[in-house]
Amino acid sequence: MAIILNEKQSLFTLQTKNSMYQMKADEYGALLHTYYGKKTENIDYSYLISMQDNGFSGNPYGNAHDRAYSFDTLPQEYPVYGGGDFRRSALMVRYGAGHCALELHYDSYRIIKGKYSIPGLPAVYAEERNQVDTLIVTLKDDQEDIFVHLYYGVMEDLDMITRTVRVENRGKDKVVLERVMSMCLDQQYGDYDFLTFYGKHAMERELSRMPVHHGVQSAGSVRGASSHQYNPFVILADHKAEETKGDCYGVSFLYSGDFLAETEYDQINQTRLVMGIHPDNFRFILEPGEEFWAPEAAMVYSDKGFENMSHIYHKAFRNNLCRGKYKNARRPVLLNNWEGTYFDFNGEKLVQMAEEAAEMGVELFVLDDGWFGKRDSDNSGLGDWTVNEKKLGCTLKELSDRIHELGLTFGIWFEPECVSEDSDLYREHPEWALKAPGKKPMLSRSQLVLDFSRAEVREHIFAQMCSVLDSARIEYVKWDFNRSISDIYSAGLSAERQGEVAHRYVLGLYDILERITQRYPDLLIEGCSGGGGRFDAGMLYYTPQIWCSDDTDAIERLKIQYGTSFAYPVSTVGAHVSASPNHQTGRKTPISTRAAAAMAGTFGYELDPGKLNARDKEEIHDQIEVFKKYYDLIQQGDYYRLTNPYGEKAYHAWEFAAPDGREALVSVVAVKVYANPAPVIIKLRGLREDKYYRLNGKSYLGGALMYAGLPLPQPKEEYESWNFHLVMEK
Ligand code: DGJ
Repeated sequence: MAIILNEKQSLFTLQTKNSMYQMKADEYGALLHTYYGKKTENIDYSYLISMQDNGFSGNPYGNAHDRAYSFDTLPQEYPVYGGGDFRRSALMVRYGAGHCALELHYDSYRIIKGKYSIPGLPAVYAEERNQVDTLIVTLKDDQEDIFVHLYYGVMEDLDMITRTVRVENRGKDKVVLERVMSMCLDQQYGDYDFLTFYGKHAMERELSRMPVHHGVQSAGSVRGASSHQYNPFVILADHKAEETKGDCYGVSFLYSGDFLAETEYDQINQTRLVMGIHPDNFRFILEPGEEFWAPEAAMVYSDKGFENMSHIYHKAFRNNLCRGKYKNARRPVLLNNWEGTYFDFNGEKLVQMAEEAAEMGVELFVLDDGWFGKRDSDNSGLGDWTVNEKKLGCTLKELSDRIHELGLTFGIWFEPECVSEDSDLYREHPEWALKAPGKKPMLSRSQLVLDFSRAEVREHIFAQMCSVLDSARIEYVKWDFNRSISDIYSAGLSAERQGEVAHRYVLGLYDILERITQRYPDLLIEGCSGGGGRFDAGMLYYTPQIWCSDDTDAIERLKIQYGTSFAYPVSTVGAHVSASPNHQTGRKTPISTRAAAAMAGTFGYELDPGKLNARDKEEIHDQIEVFKKYYDLIQQGDYYRLTNPYGEKAYHAWEFAAPDGREALVSVVAVKVYANPAPVIIKLRGLREDKYYRLNGKSYLGGALMYAGLPLPQPKEEYESWNFHLVMEK
């Protein structure tokens, strides 16, 4: 049983394979957080709580005689604003009278078999009901009849605990939610670092590791999308935690819009972490009888460092978050025309590219931006999803048929959420774009964002997309989104409800994605947002792979993919070989190295095959064979970060190992060359210590490879790479 209840002590203990989480409703009715960490004896951990009068601390009225009892310092499960806890709160509710003095008391609990789901929002799921239990703890504000239901999905085998919150207004007056975080973790003891993944367009998810210090540190987005700049995945880790040892707590927020993660180190050196929807410009009204669901947060504790934490996320996201046919089916090797042609193509050119791609073994041809409306540059056409037959020189069906005749499947690009100022849709419905009344909107890439909080706007785009998708054989859609959202105002909502627009936009996005996935169950949808500007666990529920970055430079990708790998599995990482010199950096790299980097992802090409020489074409043919051969190992194996790509290192290396240790593929890239170089070894992981492995005709002991290491060859040129395939001997 993953949920253990001690009713006498009002103690709730959640146990996964290796972690344990505990909370306790005390005599005063406060729900205190007592433990999260390694699985151990289920005793009452509230003995750890320090009770002392810290001065200037408030004492709740019913317990006012006890000066040491204060929410100012008590570790809380779901702290509220306005009740004497002055740290960052999880919930802030404004009442009709204008105040925010919420005080929650424990009310009741419920345990249900299986994993809860959240209406209209993504959530980790369990295929077998008996793998998971859900605990719902209900807190209540007596004055105003506000009920707060805390949901915990205890995924014992997966080693993950998920959380969400449902706020219910059972009172007679409306209330305003000003802040609803999805999780809070109060750790009374420990010296932690806060790890976040920051970046920019074409350089996403760089790792930042900063000690938690007195005050508040945060990472978040108010761009309407999860963003290139910060990722909704953070880690709280012991100062000493490393790749293979130490305590760490990962929190992934399954949401694709504005988010905030905050840590606070308080006056008595306790650490609080909260994560949820960003409260800036969030103001959600609950009329009597209404309720609000917060998006899900997925938490993982590892006492064996980051690697084990990543493995847990990889498995859960691959098997319990991604859905549909392509969750398990092999993803096709694609060729996308974007970097090959940009907007400059016609039907003949595309077929020519597809012919050469087919000869090299590519399986899916993807037609990117520029096939619709008036769209020969990024200044116009978005919103007019009608095929530009004049440009193509044929119908979409004819193009798709010709590509299918070559033995390829066919995919197409959309940017459903945006509209160009220069488009028929915008001329007809300017009020369908998000923009403030009477104010010239901020343009970005000459485009605006459609108001997806409105059903009629979504309906119009959905109908246009369906008519394209029904007109030809289309097996894949690239769903792009190329700007941040500003001017958040919906002409469809009243003035007092404008604080709901950003969240309702995300709900609208999920709604249309859900409808498309239901209507086209065999369609593979790949997410994209100027590359990896919306690479989050929320999107993975609808799109099992996401364009990782617009930066296709193999060497820069090593960093981007390294950061991405902390939470997201290789099977979700859209990665491609592009031309050399690279279009973003001008760097020249061997095609083998570009392939090695792209194979740590879904793999494909983003170039004009007509510009390749015969040798490169042959090599691409072989690369595709190699990728197919190792597909299961790469996509389903355990991913190991053997090195980190920061600093003045000569090599960067990673490894895929079969979970049973029978086989492994190690990729190494020489990122710097030196004259007269010193010898270098790398230590492998995930092998069986006592077994021998065959590599390049020689036999190596697994334990030796892991603890003594494998000597690396000396590079003969800059950016040379190697793949070492090891197979366990019988
Ligand atoms: C941004 C994407 O990341 C690119 O791959 C390409 O699809 C362009 N948008 C097209 O406008």
